[in-house]
Amino acid sequence: MDPDSRISEDGSPLVNRPVPADWLALRREADHRAREKSAHLLDRLQRHLRASGADSVHIIDVGAGTGSNQAWLATRLGLNQHWTLLDHDAGLIGVAEMLSLSTPQVSTDRQVGAIEDLPALLESLKPASSSREHGPEGRPVLVTCAALLDLLTAAEAEILVEAVASAGETWQAAGLFSLTVTGAVQISPQDPEDGLISEAFDAHQRRGGILGPDAAGAVAALFAGRGMSVTVQETDWELSSDHSDLTHRYLIDRAAVAVEQDPALEQTAEAWVERRLHQLAQHQLLVRVGHTDMLVLPGPS
Ligand SMILES: C[S@@+](CC[C@H](N)C(=O)[O-])C[C@H]1O[C@@H](n2cnc3c(N)ncnc32)[C@H](O)[C@@H]1O
Repeated sequence: MDPDSRISEDGSPLVNRPVPADWLALRREADHRAREKSAHLLDRLQRHLRASGADSVHIIDVGAGTGSNQAWLATRLGLNQHWTLLDHDAGLIGVAEMLSLSTPQVSTDRQVGAIEDLPALLESLKPASSSREHGPEGRPVLVTCAALLDLLTAAEAEILVEAVASAGETWQAAGLFSLTVTGAVQISPQDPEDGLISEAFDAHQRRGGILGPDAAGAVAALFAGRGMSVTVQETDWELSSDHSDLTHRYLIDRAAVAVEQDPALEQTAEAWVERRLHQLAQHQLLVRVGHTDMLVLPGPS
């Protein structure tokens, strides 16, 4: 089970450590800018989807949050689309924008649910006939997520991979998993305390069995082990004083998380963040935050 989730007395999921909606709003522009680098993955994905002969696709966005992934992908896929936005946080999915476009035709539904619900959701889309070509109503299926894989435990990642790989084998489902944190963070100029802060931050990202910085490699290996074709593209954030609100928040949160992991770092982190924010205000700071996008298609690379 997700270590950040628990079940309330009435059986509905509670998220212990919800992702704040204002953080998702703040990062959206940097996310979309970073994803420009993965345009070639979209070209390959489009070719795969069009090869089915269908003119529309069913897309499941796992951990959809407030809808940023859909906002990025919908106008770039070309085909008509039906989206299912799935998230275990009712608060976020409740305020997610639901795109409804006419060109291409885009319709959307929202579901509160966790990664464990993905296999049943995919199963419900399975074609009744023995067709191996596509999913519901003759449409191919794409499972996607953005900024999710590094939040999963190894067990949750296996559920995701197993669900997508079996749907890939039986009806050519594909996967596009974007903006997974890699743990490679470069802040320039360097600071003597960068290492200590990074160590505590990364340990926190791996708390309770969460994959954190190991997610992209682990998930790619699992898909490759299932005989799927995996293509990875770096989609780092490149932040400077031009993106000062996001950079400011990123630095403050990075220090706070490091202290949560190791309370002995409190004074070190306070002084570190003060130096970093001063450099940001002086237009002297560049922050590169490592991410990757991964395209997974049926069949070997
Ligand atoms: C960092 S946010 C990204 C949200 C959105 N994809 C975006 O790019 O803005 C991660 C999202 O995944 C959701 N999430 C985390 N673990 C989940 C799980 N096990 N099952 C379903 N949703 C999950 C969170 O509630 C949150 O909305």
